[in-house]
Amino acid sequence: MTQDELKQNVAQAAIEYVVPDTIIGVGTGSTANFFIDELAKIKGTIEGAVASSEATAERLKSHGIPVFDLNSVAEISVYIDGADEADAGLNLIKGGGGALTREKIVLAVADKFVCIADDSKKVNVLGKFPLPIEVIPMARSYVAREIVKRFGGEPVLRDGFITDNGNLILDVHALEITDPVSMENELNSIVGIVTNGLFAARPADIFLCGTANGVETLTAK
Ligand code: A5P
Repeated sequence: MTQDELKQNVAQAAIEYVVPDTIIGVGTGSTANFFIDELAKIKGTIEGAVASSEATAERLKSHGIPVFDLNSVAEISVYIDGADEADAGLNLIKGGGGALTREKIVLAVADKFVCIADDSKKVNVLGKFPLPIEVIPMARSYVAREIVKRFGGEPVLRDGFITDNGNLILDVHALEITDPVSMENELNSIVGIVTNGLFAARPADIFLCGTANGVETLTAK
């Protein structure tokens, strides 16, 4: 099975978690794109969606799925999104596509988080995938120095990339993240960081993991 087939399978499986007559949150990336295409087939059953990026909003609209501004929405039944890495506690690294800030905001409003990914994203310890950090442009060098001082690692500026919010991304290589909740919290305390790509204080509730033998439904261990 190809990686795209695995993504397609988890996208289909995620449809079961869509709550009828509600507004859902939709993530960003190639797996989320497969999900949006599946969602289009049942679009009449939901009120609409809140998008975690401009790209996702465009794709939803292209299928005729109503897209709501988060400021006009008080409740999101479920947030469905991909990930770059997931550990056994369903702590995640996200932001490979640079949409981490809006992803974390939409997730904050959602009742439930269903993560969809192929099994290449499963790891014992987070950090092999470089940790994305969205930074205010003027704080870029300060934040990079602070990260090295506190955690080690090698921050690299994502070349030529501007987020939907007009900021930069530092990708921090060579981290071994054994305590993702405390690292997420400490990163949040560094001025100039808008959002870090650790989703651990609020991990996934369910991980639909695409394997060659079918979709596994994982909960936190
Ligand atoms: C987007 O910013 C990310 O958080 C994505 O959720 C993540 O990069 C997964 O993307 P793929 O589904 O393309 O692997």
